[in-house]
Amino acid sequence: MKFFVDTADTAAIRELNALGMVDGVTTNPSLILKSGRDILEVTREICDIVEGPVSAEVVATEAPAMIAEGLKLAQIAPNIAIKVPLTWDGLTACKAFASEGHKVNVTLCFSAAQAILAAKAGAAFVSPFIGRLDDIHLEGVELIQDIRTIYDNYAYPTEILAASIRSVNHIVDCARIGADVITAPPAVIRAMANHVLTDKGLAQFLSDWEKTGQKIL
Ligand code: G3P
Repeated sequence: MKFFVDTADTAAIRELNALGMVDGVTTNPSLILKSGRDILEVTREICDIVEGPVSAEVVATEAPAMIAEGLKLAQIAPNIAIKVPLTWDGLTACKAFASEGHKVNVTLCFSAAQAILAAKAGAAFVSPFIGRLDDIHLEGVELIQDIRTIYDNYAYPTEILAASIRSVNHIVDCARIGADVITAPPAVIRAMANHVLTDKGLAQFLSDWEKTGQKIL
């Protein structure tokens, strides 16, 4: 499973990337707002740090303007994946970008039907939002399972990029199902290392070591 980081915080991206934890980055207008930086400038910096795909999202809502924005974003670096919303105009723009060899991430996917359309339009990635489905008392993880089954039935090459990941359990569930990629905030990726028994075991080892009176260095 590939790990994308869902942030425009370049310090956090650098830190995780140095550990080999970053296969790509996803951004969106809300994350650009949170960064407080210019979209072109911060996206260029991210593309310099990370070798894998970096999703940059258009904000126009009609296909011709989406295409113009996407082509500008694609000029930032060769590893840009143009992100479009899962609307009819977004699918139209997706098809146009894909036909010209650009990678497209179709975002804001909330149903299996939408995911089928993204695959048909040539998306490199489809982004189903797990957490936001959970927020309205639907099972986000079940959507990942449905899309996995459907894409496998027809060998669609579109990668399932599970997004709106809020917890370590979301990531493990997605791995169990076989999502191709998860994109998660840096804090959730870091939280994967935590276990209460690890903390307890380490405290015991350190306390016993102290009693030996020995030193390694
Ligand atoms: O990748 C999509 C993500 O940024 C949305 O996450 O937590 O705002 O639903 P969230």
